Amino acid sequence: MIDKISDTRKIFDEDISKVNNLQALEELRIKYLSRKGIIPQLFDLFKEISKEEKKIVGKELNELKNYAQQKYDELKSKLEAEEKTKKELSLDVTLPGRIKTIGSKHLITQTLDEIKNIFKGLGFSVYEGPELESDYNNFEALNFPADHPARDMQDTFFINQNFLLRTHTSPVQIRLMKSKKPPIRAIMPGKVYRNEVISAKSYCLFHQVEGLYVDKDVTFAELKGTLIAFLKQFFGDDVKYRFRASFFPFTEPSAEMDVWWQPKGKEGRWLEVLGCGMVDPNVLINVGIDPEEYVGYAFGMGIERTAMRKYGIDDIRILFDSDVRFLRQF
Ligand code: PHE
Repeated sequence: MIDKISDTRKIFDEDISKVNNLQALEELRIKYLSRKGIIPQLFDLFKEISKEEKKIVGKELNELKNYAQQKYDELKSKLEAEEKTKKELSLDVTLPGRIKTIGSKHLITQTLDEIKNIFKGLGFSVYEGPELESDYNNFEALNFPADHPARDMQDTFFINQNFLLRTHTSPVQIRLMKSKKPPIRAIMPGKVYRNEVISAKSYCLFHQVEGLYVDKDVTFAELKGTLIAFLKQFFGDDVKYRFRASFFPFTEPSAEMDVWWQPKGKEGRWLEVLGCGMVDPNVLINVGIDPEEYVGYAFGMGIERTAMRKYGIDDIRILFDSDVRFLRQF
């Protein structure tokens, strides 16, 4: 038995001296150290020898096992380290780097962020509503009676009799007033849809920001002041604007705001940027707010139009084309 142990150590030494890669090392481990390997087999033989012999042989056998395990561990870390440096050497650090292209915010998102920030500064919070709306919230509650010609102001994509793609963000006013008690001071941005012929001026989809302020004594003068403050921050202090009387079923009185548009070398003209007015008492009644106690103002503007004014873009379609040559300019 003792001879067997010292023979095993000799051939193990011989074998391990020839190992020069991790695969050969694994084969060596299987041959000597795995469960059916040579060394565990010696332990099996050990069980069958006499007690006296066991004393001497046991020590030798354990030593052999520890020796083999230690040699194996040492060689393993050495080979692994070598492999790692080999990999590192095959890495060419002089190669030029790969440039990652990073996207940026779309002009519409940038404009929306800017508008939100201005109104947040004026004390408005931000709410959002769904793009699929009920006919009731989009029209009825906003004082557009069924069959009323005012419905034709907004060509609608109907889903069925009762549901549609919202044609404006005003239904979010209804949702907000139904769920919250005044005072309410919020803006409501989002996508809206109109079934219109696509042209340089109009697209079937665009973005609006709605504004609403309901409290005990809100005045038209406050509405004007807020909108003028907004226009000055957005377009610059020298912006030229005017209010023009208008009509919306959900506001009374109603107005539209125009800004002066002066393209270089061309004739200037007034361009409409937003609609506004005092919330019609009928709308307050529809959402369960007492019009004797509360008053409100509301306004709404198209983001695309506003961005087009600011950046001198004359075709709305380019905002939906995703052409990076255009988008990179902002
Ligand atoms: N919802 C109106 C539109 O889309 C804009 C508007 C909002 C007008 C709020 C007045 C008050 O044309």
